[in-house]
Amino acid sequence: MQRHILVTSALPYANGSIHLGHLVEYIQTDIWVRFQKMRGHACHYVCADDAHGTPIMLRAQNEGISAEQLIAKVSEEHQADFAAFNIGFDHYHSTHSDENRTLSNQIYLANRDAGHIESRTISQAYDPEKEMFLPDRFIRGECPKCGAADQYGDNCEACGATYEPTELKNPVSAVSGATPITKDSEHYFFKLGNFEQLLRDWTGGEHLQPEVSRKLAEWFESGLQDWDISRDTPYFGFEIPDAPGKFFYVWMDAPIGYLASFKHYCDKQGIDFDAFMKPDSQTEMVHFIGKDIIYFHALFWPAMLSGAGLRLPNRIFAHGFLTVDGKKMSKSRGTFIKARTYLNHLNPEYLRYYFAAKLGNGIEDIDLSLADFQNRINADLVGKVVNIASRCAGFINKKFDGKLTQTLADPALFRVFTAESENIARRYEQREYAQAMREIMALADKANQYIDEQKPWVLAKDPEQQDAVQAVCSLGINLFRILIAYLKPVLPATAQQAEAFLNIPALQWESIGTPMLDHVIRPFTPLMTRIESDKITALLEESKETLETEVKPTQTTAPPADIEPLAHEINFDDFAKLDLRIALIQNAEHVEGADKLLRLTLDIGLGEKQVFAGIKSAYQPEQLIGKLTVMVANLAPRKMRFGLSEGMVLAAGPGGKDLFILNPDQGATPGMRVK
Ligand code: MSP
Ligand code: ZN
Repeated sequence: MQRHILVTSALPYANGSIHLGHLVEYIQTDIWVRFQKMRGHACHYVCADDAHGTPIMLRAQNEGISAEQLIAKVSEEHQADFAAFNIGFDHYHSTHSDENRTLSNQIYLANRDAGHIESRTISQAYDPEKEMFLPDRFIRGECPKCGAADQYGDNCEACGATYEPTELKNPVSAVSGATPITKDSEHYFFKLGNFEQLLRDWTGGEHLQPEVSRKLAEWFESGLQDWDISRDTPYFGFEIPDAPGKFFYVWMDAPIGYLASFKHYCDKQGIDFDAFMKPDSQTEMVHFIGKDIIYFHALFWPAMLSGAGLRLPNRIFAHGFLTVDGKKMSKSRGTFIKARTYLNHLNPEYLRYYFAAKLGNGIEDIDLSLADFQNRINADLVGKVVNIASRCAGFINKKFDGKLTQTLADPALFRVFTAESENIARRYEQREYAQAMREIMALADKANQYIDEQKPWVLAKDPEQQDAVQAVCSLGINLFRILIAYLKPVLPATAQQAEAFLNIPALQWESIGTPMLDHVIRPFTPLMTRIESDKITALLEESKETLETEVKPTQTTAPPADIEPLAHEINFDDFAKLDLRIALIQNAEHVEGADKLLRLTLDIGLGEKQVFAGIKSAYQPEQLIGKLTVMVANLAPRKMRFGLSEGMVLAAGPGGKDLFILNPDQGATPGMRVK
């Protein structure tokens, strides 16, 4: 029976480039969709850019363009990247679209009328200069637990504490630098708790992977909270129909973007969208997502749909995160690899195959080990699969005008290959791609073994054995065709080239068992080449460069001879770790037995700190007492020969008599932060 399936991948944010991490998801989904299509099902794969929200609004402002201009530019870039990786969306839309506005309003109003929306006043951090409410990640300050400087509004990267943005000490707005104030505003909440029973049932069943269901069970234990779905102006998004100046939170209209994209596609294709969305629809709706966004998809989304009287998703398939060489992708190591950078060096089919060879149906993270990547491609695709064709095609083309035999030399071997068809299909259906790849490669080994045993290159020298050469190579080419059919969901471009070489119509699953007999093939051109190590080195190099060019200083001058060259560059995060304070020098004295040091007692309003400073050659202690200076206040204490040093003072100069401790202007007070 033909299935009708709507398939989605999560909508990438419209403020950044597609990277290899994203591609895990789009490649995983695309393989599944291509498989369904090969099976003859009506499968519709849609996606869109997730275009709303504060980060996108602010980024557009920074670039001096409108949000609409930014999202148009990014959408073009995303679509070009996806196309290059052969991600075969049937439609790619934007959440900032008419369809999405209409559907968001409709779903919101239906939920409101059914009593699932409530409004109440909350207080939040507000930037009085920029005149906007600040999302947590746009507030920075000192951690209330450990005092680390420059931490995000909701968690501390230094000690791992989580807290409310209002608890941050000395908070500043990351947008303007102003000190945030607290301000009241009315917000709209989606009453998730109204759906508790429905969600308990729905998430306990076959809609989710078992490990995801278990995770959700924990969330139920901690209680379902109302969900704030509104944001105040200025916000790039959709204004809430009955609430001027209030906008839908980006995560409210983002999943509706799946439907908006599908609606646009349905209208073009003449598919009945409304029938598709009815609760009793016999069609399927399947979402592929990363494990970080399960909460939105497995709780809010079914609840919102249900509240609006619409059908629920049939399946949500979550996957894990990509690591590169065992570690989180890193810009400094060059492993934060953008899709475009990859394309500058390597064939996209390689990555598709590698991800397939690593992906199971669970939510474990998957690792791209670059050495393993190179080996697998060279061994499996080039060494095993393509090799079969290149070993056989030459003889067929040169000696037999491209003609394959009328019968199969070894029908039993051919059957071994076709007999795997339903098994491999089940692997794809269950998203056990890694297992499918192993089974396909085991078949490729069998084909190569057959050719090794028959030795057509030896037979070819014997005039009596010409029929045997044709028979062996014809079977080899037939086995190659089956392998290509099995790999087609993973390697669509290679499969297409192979179809041209084999001179056959597009491979479908049901035609796998039909051999090519008495059939003329075309000349063979290598379908793939080995990955050489320099390609991978170059990819990593360019990935490092992407970062550098993004932050290139406006001017760099070669240092004149009398200026010391700059020390090793640090990034902003390194800088942000320094807590520089104005300190009052309460006391200064000589240190017994030390030639260079003075012992300073510094006050930054947090108790006295003792610091040993190498400034004896330039200052008499009495000159310093009562003066202000700048101190690195959060330096870990160091035990020195003369005692504990609990910080450093900043000084400038070549040394000796010319050493000047920084002497802040009047008006500074101890404890003040230096920025
Ligand atoms: N805009 C939201 C999704 C809204 S869906 C209604 C979003 N965007 S995203 O650009 O951050 O991520 C898009 C998808 O890529 C998500 O499913 C996310 O899990 C996935 N990935 C992003 N980085 C990833 C890795 N490093 N590894 C694997 N998947 C990753 O979330
Ligand atoms: Zn902390």
